[in-house]
Amino acid sequence: MNAVFNPSALSSSLKESLEEIGKAKTSQDLEAARSKYFGSQGIFSLASKSIGSLDKDKRKEAGEFFGKCKKEFDSAFLKKKEEVEAEEERGRLRAETVDMTLPFTRFPMGSLHPITLVKREMEHFFTSLGWSLGDGPEVEHAWYNFDALNFPPDHPARQMQDTFYMAPQDCNLVLRTQTSSTQVREMISSPLPLYTASIGRVFRSDPLDAFHSPVFHQCEGLAVDEGLSVADLKGVLKALVSSLFGGGKVRLRPSYFPFTQPSFEMDMLLEGSGKWVELAGAGMVHPNVLKSAGVDPEKYTGFAFGIGIERVAMLKYGIKDMHDLVEGDVRFSHQFAMGD
Ligand code: DAH
Repeated sequence: MNAVFNPSALSSSLKESLEEIGKAKTSQDLEAARSKYFGSQGIFSLASKSIGSLDKDKRKEAGEFFGKCKKEFDSAFLKKKEEVEAEEERGRLRAETVDMTLPFTRFPMGSLHPITLVKREMEHFFTSLGWSLGDGPEVEHAWYNFDALNFPPDHPARQMQDTFYMAPQDCNLVLRTQTSSTQVREMISSPLPLYTASIGRVFRSDPLDAFHSPVFHQCEGLAVDEGLSVADLKGVLKALVSSLFGGGKVRLRPSYFPFTQPSFEMDMLLEGSGKWVELAGAGMVHPNVLKSAGVDPEKYTGFAFGIGIERVAMLKYGIKDMHDLVEGDVRFSHQFAMGD
């Protein structure tokens, strides 16, 4: 046996390597030990390469000795490797542990606001009757909001609705006080006969209290055709109330609006209490309004009505205070949107 293949040096290296394996804490420690002893420059690799150059009669013995060392190393290495990897896996799992009892960041679901729910129901009602859905600007020319609707200049009726005027004064723009402002726009832009509903925001300089808000919503219905009568108006209102409230009696009471003749308030009978509550303004479209839109009042008649959406929502859902409707607290909306 020559100097390179030195069994006693290999024995002590084996002992050393087994101690290193014993002390290894991580896979890297283990790999470092393997490459130190069995890597290309390791003492065992060099010894193994030298076996070929030994005298023939020594080769077998050296080969067996090398094999025995390698086997011992490998088995200690693999055993330790399993332990170290298991410990590393436990460490990873510990690091990924989630404490299910910790408070967490919620991603709350939104809820449709009751105004949106009522609006959608009404839109569904009108489209299922075959009516179109219209729209109009919130900043409106005073002509569409008042003049075209037969409010004469300086007529006290203009003061019926506390109007927000836009500056400068002579621009004649207002924040629309009623969705009736869409009536003449619709008649001008659509061919007759016309059956249309428009839902949107309106503005009046009322302070916010339990029953009023400076910004609220209305639904305007308008039908213009040949031969329409109050009976048609009442039929549509009755169907609307029954679709919104699941039944209910309605009645028309005489009233006054400049843009209808005759004019009515529509009341609905409250289930249980026997009380009538006012729900909408309505009437047959005034001939002057038809004329504003270039419609021949000798040929066509029309009916129109305006309903406050907040009022419907309050009655439908038993909401007692307007503040709840305008404050935008999602916990409030959640109550009505269940299952939507
Ligand atoms: N625009 C009226 C209001 O805001 C409501 C109204 C009354 C609308 C009679 C109509 C109508 O279309 O015919 O008080």
